[in-house]
Amino acid sequence: MGIKSKIKHSISFLLHGEAKPIYANIHYLAPNEHLKDKKIVITGGGRGLGFAMAKKFVSEGAKVLIAGRNEQTLKQSASEINCLYLPLDVQDTSSFKGFIDKADKMLGGINCLVNNAGISLHEEGFLAVSPKQFDSQIDTNLRGCFFLTQAFIEKCNETHVEGTKKILFTSSETSMTVDERPYGLTKAALNSLVQGLAYRYVNEGYRINAVAPGVTISDMVGGDANGDLRYGNITHRYYLPEEVAEVAAFLLSDASNCLNGQILVCNEGKTINARWK
Ligand SMILES: NC(=O)c1ccc[n+]([C@@H]2O[C@H](COP(=O)([O-])OP(=O)(O)OC[C@H]3O[C@@H](n4cnc5c(N)ncnc54)[C@H](OP(=O)(O)O)[C@@H]3O)[C@@H](O)[C@H]2O)c1
Repeated sequence: MGIKSKIKHSISFLLHGEAKPIYANIHYLAPNEHLKDKKIVITGGGRGLGFAMAKKFVSEGAKVLIAGRNEQTLKQSASEINCLYLPLDVQDTSSFKGFIDKADKMLGGINCLVNNAGISLHEEGFLAVSPKQFDSQIDTNLRGCFFLTQAFIEKCNETHVEGTKKILFTSSETSMTVDERPYGLTKAALNSLVQGLAYRYVNEGYRINAVAPGVTISDMVGGDANGDLRYGNITHRYYLPEEVAEVAAFLLSDASNCLNGQILVCNEGKTINARWK
């Protein structure tokens, strides 16, 4: 594995009212077919973190199918990185069996699932959360992952998939702290699900892990690395979807088969509960 490129990425944003340029050295591993023979479905793969992951997975030799609600976005993204696509609303659990059957046929035998689709409604606080907001975040970030994973495992049982089967979740650094709003609750619950499933299914050939990104440039956070979000990261920067995608690719590869039930927090240690904070 070599280092493909060393990119100096400049991010400037307002810190304590003053614009400061922030520099970060970002390293990417050279594509080397680490995901050869992986046939991956990734939800929310049309844009944001999911798209960066899909792009990395394709470059590592995987056969990839991206899923999401917006067919136009999926079509365009799929043609950009040469992968398959299939519309899916992760709130619509009744469509999951049909979706997984179709994806399995299109991929020629699905063996990896990435539960990445998610929403955050950024409510002001506990009192600002409506039942509708609560339900839509639970349904997208938790209920959808739960039942799609169920459909995936049922399909793998039916097709007797050989080799290690991988399931990856996109959690969040929010899951490492307390939160009174639905988004944080969904991600904390997701971590429990990851560990519960990992323990339950290890002897059936599954490896089930999560990435938990810090604030990463995407539509969810406004998409602008030059915005004025004041952010208390210890290294004072945002992350790029490509950085999270590197970690995701490692977790889907057989190089990480001894990892199971792990939540890899991609924020340079911001949420470590240090005594001297
Ligand atoms: N960006 C961050 O700072 C950050 C930090 C920690 C964790 N995360 C997590 O990373 C994941 C991806 O977020 P992102 O930052 O890439 O956000 P994003 O750019 O807003 O992308 C969200 C993705 O989820 C899909 N999606 C949303 N609702 C869906 C539904 N009902 N059915 C199917 N797909 C749906 C969207 O596709 P369609 O609109 O086409 O359906 C889109 O592809 C989420 O789970 C998020 O919680 C993000």
